[in-house]
Amino acid sequence: MDKAMFKDMDLIITGVRIVDAERDEFGIIIIEDGLIVSLDSATGAKGYSVINGKGLTAMPAFVDTHAHFREPGFEYKETIETGSKAAVRGGYTTVLLMGNTNPPASTREIIESVQEKGKAIGLVDIIQCATVTDMLGGEDISHLESVLEATKFITDDGKGVMNDKLALDAMILAKGKDATVISHAENHYFSQTDMRLAENLMTYRDIELARISGSKLHMAHVSTREAIGRIIESKNEGLNITCEVTPHHLIGDSRIDYRVNPPLREREDVVALIKAIKEGHVDAIGTDHAPHSQEDKEKGAPGISGIETSFSMCYTVLVKEHNMSMNQLSEIMSEKPAKILGIKKGLIKEGYAGDIVLVDEDASYVINSEEFESKGKNTPFNGLSVYGKVIMTIKAGEVVYKGADYDSRKNI
Ligand code: DOR
Ligand code: ZN
Repeated sequence: MDKAMFKDMDLIITGVRIVDAERDEFGIIIIEDGLIVSLDSATGAKGYSVINGKGLTAMPAFVDTHAHFREPGFEYKETIETGSKAAVRGGYTTVLLMGNTNPPASTREIIESVQEKGKAIGLVDIIQCATVTDMLGGEDISHLESVLEATKFITDDGKGVMNDKLALDAMILAKGKDATVISHAENHYFSQTDMRLAENLMTYRDIELARISGSKLHMAHVSTREAIGRIIESKNEGLNITCEVTPHHLIGDSRIDYRVNPPLREREDVVALIKAIKEGHVDAIGTDHAPHSQEDKEKGAPGISGIETSFSMCYTVLVKEHNMSMNQLSEIMSEKPAKILGIKKGLIKEGYAGDIVLVDEDASYVINSEEFESKGKNTPFNGLSVYGKVIMTIKAGEVVYKGADYDSRKNI
């Protein structure tokens, strides 16, 4: 299914458990002209498409603060189209794409062309980051003035910005344009020898630079207990800092031998990240969806194809195993990520986007990447049994993904 199944229709979802960061109740959801208009009664004499939500939970569709769709240049790993299909299968309707493409997202043309392609495909809203340094070269930021007209997010994700002065200048520029700097915290002097020190050092530095510049700073894929501890302190100090954690850093640790940056850490780190989430210090789940070909993985490319398993992994670890509320899960998968991206999404509330995901909390299944829509089958989690399944994804009132399980439900 490439395009929305019900176009230009108004939608009603009946008999469903409605969960977002603020509510958890049974009811109906009415979407008209792409927006949520009511949660109690149908408004006009509209020709609604009816979705029977019995036995399912409706959440605001997920918002990913970190994904790689690989276009332009690495279409053999993923395209905007395959990435979009993977995203909706994972319950996502908004993604923030990193800029380590070929050529990198260092010009307005590239940023605009990715966003336009995303729009033409029409499954998810795509926001493309610009690179912090021109062509990811680490030396020049003269392109920023121009690219910040096309996007409000800059990152050299894939590597850290090593030059301290340049990193500060970029933040000062970002501050002036009300943009957000996203930090891939990795001091590459230590990438070969001590990846913990690599992340920690650059986290500490970027927090100090954010303090001086006053810029908005978003820490990507936080993975060490030291880094999350420092981030929590900086938030308590009132700095304008947000952070994300990936599903794989919540479920996997160093006992799994699989290359990803930052690496899967020690059990103590996983425990610290889960604790930080439960205490409300983490703003977002960022999938760091990083599809690669099998050949590239064999050559050592770091990354996990993760956008299709994100919900199930987070639900399993956080809700099932650690008793977190569904409200809190929704907060970090939808509401706060939408706030970071500055979009009116992430809540099931009148006036918000009609972007909804229906999940089956009772379903469990075994992860099998051969079933992925993504071209990237690279995951160490094949064979893992997880709870919670995405059944349907709706964007602006249109069904953009429907799993086979929707029709095969019994007793509805
Ligand atoms: O594992 C990773 N893969 N970490 C990154 O920071 C980059 C990403 C990629 O682009 O493959
Ligand atoms: Zn990264």
